[in-house]
Amino acid sequence: MKTVSVYPGINNYDILIGSGLLAQAGEKLKMLGCRGKAVVITDSSVNELYGPLLEQSLMAAGFETLILTLPPGEKQKTLANAGRLVTNLSSAYAERSTAILALGGGVIGDLAGFVAATYMRGVPLVQVPTTLLAQVDSSIGGKVAVDHGRLKNMIGAFYQPRLVISDVSVLKSLSPRFLSDGLAEVIKYGVITDTAFFEYLENNVECIKAFDEAALEETVYKSAEIKARVVEQDERDTGLRNILNFGHTVGHGIESVSDFKIGHGEAVSLGMLTAGKISFKLGKFNRSDLSRLKELLERAGLPVKLPDLKTESLLQAMQHDKKTTSGKIKFILVKGIGKAVISNEVSLALVEQVLADWNETT
Ligand SMILES: NC(=O)c1ccc[n+]([C@@H]2O[C@H](COP(=O)([O-])OP(=O)(O)OC[C@H]3O[C@@H](n4cnc5c(N)ncnc54)[C@H](O)[C@@H]3O)[C@@H](O)[C@H]2O)c1
Ligand SMILES: [Zn+2]
Repeated sequence: MKTVSVYPGINNYDILIGSGLLAQAGEKLKMLGCRGKAVVITDSSVNELYGPLLEQSLMAAGFETLILTLPPGEKQKTLANAGRLVTNLSSAYAERSTAILALGGGVIGDLAGFVAATYMRGVPLVQVPTTLLAQVDSSIGGKVAVDHGRLKNMIGAFYQPRLVISDVSVLKSLSPRFLSDGLAEVIKYGVITDTAFFEYLENNVECIKAFDEAALEETVYKSAEIKARVVEQDERDTGLRNILNFGHTVGHGIESVSDFKIGHGEAVSLGMLTAGKISFKLGKFNRSDLSRLKELLERAGLPVKLPDLKTESLLQAMQHDKKTTSGKIKFILVKGIGKAVISNEVSLALVEQVLADWNETT
């Protein structure tokens, strides 16, 4: 097992990473000083696969355990569902000291986290992420939220968990689509901050895709550490955290113009390549690093060819993105593998040109 300790200012917490940790969750919760009731919030697919194992572990450690289940999917991340969960919690006499365990992907992590942040003004939250994206990204950093209509994450808070338990053995049942979503973020961490980690991924991407547990443990560990180090320097997302948006400005545009037929990881892959190509055009990134990025994305099973989407709609969607201001976009570029820079010099015209000349650069 590996541990990443996160120091966001107050309320420090640990991220535990390893195989077989779900069965130890009850003991870990007891070590936090929690007693009495424990409530697991999960979705029905994850519950079927891993609910009983977590429940047994909690009960064996003496917790009176309640499992609350929602259907899977982003559509469930609503204020109405948060309200329903609060009703369930209060019917079960959940108290201020009752821990909530969020067992699932980012949807459950965000929703259960939001409920934990607000029920009785805050109860202990334990994230038990079960997708690669949730283990390397959404369970770290304390952002919890629900969607509001079409507006993603519009109602939310910053609320740190007391503990994150990332059991890498549960990743084996993930569908390729959700593995890709996580892999795109993992590659992003290497590109923006860590050359050695990028090289590790170049050497191990096939093992990760084959769910080799040692490779997954190292990958989740390095990724969690990188995200933790970035967010603890910028807990409230006012500066440095911006580098985590590498690939996301164009990525969000692609997701939205494709009407979400192109998944998050796929869109971020294309977004990272666009950012790489822009960096190359501006003379910051060399051709061989750009090729390395493209090759790793390809080997990870992520797309590198621009889909047939209207550039005009894409640029429009990017202007609507919250990170956009009047013609110039706050863009995360790279000065080499492992070195992200925040730039205000990227114009929409330059993005348009890079998209038009897509096949020229690599
Ligand atoms: N809070 C943050 O900082 C942050 C960061 C990034 C993303 N997010 C949020 O995360 C959400 C996306 O998360 P996600 O990609 O994990 O999606 P998700 O939670 O919808 O999970 C994806 C699917 O995989 C299934 N699943 C989960 N674990 C599984 C397992 N081990 N085996 C088999 N199936 C499993 C789920 O039932 C679901 O159908 C979005 O709502 C996004 O806004 C939050
Ligand atoms: Zn992302």
